[in-house]
Amino acid sequence: MTPELMDEGARRLARHGGASQPGHTASGGRAADFGRLVVPGEVDVAHGRILYLEDVSVSFDGFKAINKLSLDIAPGELRCIIGPNGAGKTTMMDIITGKTRPDEGRVFFGSTIDLLRYREAEIAQLGIGRKFQKPTVFEQLTVFENLELALKTHKGVGHSMLFRLDSAQSDRLAEVIETIQLAGSVSRSAGNLSHGQKQWLEIGMLLMQDPRLLLLDEPVAGMTDEETARTAELFLALKGRHSLMVVEHDMGFIRAISETVTVLCDGAVLAQGTLDEVQADERVIEVYLGR
Ligand SMILES: Nc1ncnc2c1ncn2[C@@H]1O[C@H](COP(=O)(O)OP(=O)(O)O)[C@@H](O)[C@H]1O
Ligand SMILES: [Mg+2]
Repeated sequence: MTPELMDEGARRLARHGGASQPGHTASGGRAADFGRLVVPGEVDVAHGRILYLEDVSVSFDGFKAINKLSLDIAPGELRCIIGPNGAGKTTMMDIITGKTRPDEGRVFFGSTIDLLRYREAEIAQLGIGRKFQKPTVFEQLTVFENLELALKTHKGVGHSMLFRLDSAQSDRLAEVIETIQLAGSVSRSAGNLSHGQKQWLEIGMLLMQDPRLLLLDEPVAGMTDEETARTAELFLALKGRHSLMVVEHDMGFIRAISETVTVLCDGAVLAQGTLDEVQADERVIEVYLGR
């Protein structure tokens, strides 16, 4: 660790009133007595990584779904993950989000937050948003109400009638509606939206929480070509402000958005590079053609 980093660490400790905050200890948090206080927005990316997995493994009934997987993602990066069915892509997201506990390995959010110490709901609060494959919007509520609810749920006020959006929250809501291109549909019931619009709404609900990292599992499955193209634009607009990990099978979509592509196979990284590089890799061709 460089002196500059140590100074920065000391400043952070001072700002947060000592070593009792998760992830801000002299030992990097590992040996410390962690409280359960979650501080969203405090992610240390001084080492250039927003997400870091090292030698992660998990078995289901003796079958190694994830096998010594190591991978990291830079702040603001849009990382694409491809790989055959059963490669472990969804299981990797389950591990990052606390849904599945790995048998071994390390999973860090920034350089100091050990995600294996947190439960699923706490990990969401820390700033990791996850989009599952199927849209899970509230069909009877309007687009606006869905977004408002996402904010309330995140703030832990539930259905409280006393909750009113403050001006920063109203601004955020307007900004998100613009980003997901649903400005013309704010008062429509979510149930009346197209499949693609429902997916965007759900992404919007995640964005209301302003996550540092967004995990998206097959986001364009079932979309029309036009919806897919608009989703590519949306993701390109989100990168930078957020870090994204996108699992997809649609290679046209991957081509439109990708920088670095990671190929997962048998629970580990098989290849990594630009889409052209990995598509030219003999081992990658083999796993795609061989199954
Ligand atoms: N909860 C589970 N119990 C048993 N096996 C599982 C479980 N979750 C995933 N698997 C197995 O782990 C492997 C990886 O699955 P998955 O992560 O869903 O792959 P992908 O998303 O890349 O298609 C598959 O063989 C799957 O059957
Ligand atoms: Mg999957």
